[in-house]
Amino acid sequence: MDSMATGEQYLEGLYPEDEQLAHVLEGIRANGMPEISIAPGYGRLLTLLVRIIGAKRVMEIGALGGYSGICLARGLGDDGKLFSLELKQEYANLAHKHLSEAGLGSRVEYRVGEALDSLEQLESEGHKFDLFFIDADKGNYPNYLEWAIRLANPGALIVGDNLLMRGRAVNPSEQGNAVTKMRIFNERIASDPRLESVMLPAYDGLAIARVKPE
Ligand SMILES: C[S@@+](CC[C@H](N)C(=O)[O-])C[C@H]1O[C@@H](n2cnc3c(N)ncnc32)[C@H](O)[C@@H]1O
Repeated sequence: MDSMATGEQYLEGLYPEDEQLAHVLEGIRANGMPEISIAPGYGRLLTLLVRIIGAKRVMEIGALGGYSGICLARGLGDDGKLFSLELKQEYANLAHKHLSEAGLGSRVEYRVGEALDSLEQLESEGHKFDLFFIDADKGNYPNYLEWAIRLANPGALIVGDNLLMRGRAVNPSEQGNAVTKMRIFNERIASDPRLESVMLPAYDGLAIARVKPE
């Protein structure tokens, strides 16, 4: 175990168990779904970011079992709404069940199917967002970043998970599509003149970018 992992575990251990989120992880396991929800520390950060900026419209790309959905929806006020984009109907159903059990079901709307199609649909409906959380297929991260900038309210935040891809992003011998696109995403987060940003290397790496008002 490396020292970073020990530090994460030490800090996580200072918090009491979150029963709602533990229930989500149990549900994911019981349904044989991949155990790839956002890390607990970053889940707490999502809640804080939504609350700090007073976000009213939030988009999540990749719902899985609703772990990050709960974290995002917790930060919203009663007039806030989370739009969650998910490829698989059964995952969206489980995520919705978990948000409903957490008392947050009325704050979320799921759009099922390819996220790129849902993004086009949301644009045609005239939606704009205050915060985006990108956490779906890595090969589309640069596309999702471009869409987020397009659908951003001035000063919106764009958060992206898994920048490091468990070390693959920093290993030059890894040249597959997903890891190559993740490197492009990371480079754009760092240097796109439309953004100001920070990238956090804890857990699997998290980007936080603010879309500069024009
Ligand atoms: C890492 S998981 C999301 C975890 C979730 N954000 C959390 O932290 O609780 C990735 C999710 O993206 C979904 N996904 C993958 N490709 C997608 C696509 N093309 N469009 C929409 N969702 C997709 C997967 O089905 C999966 O549920």
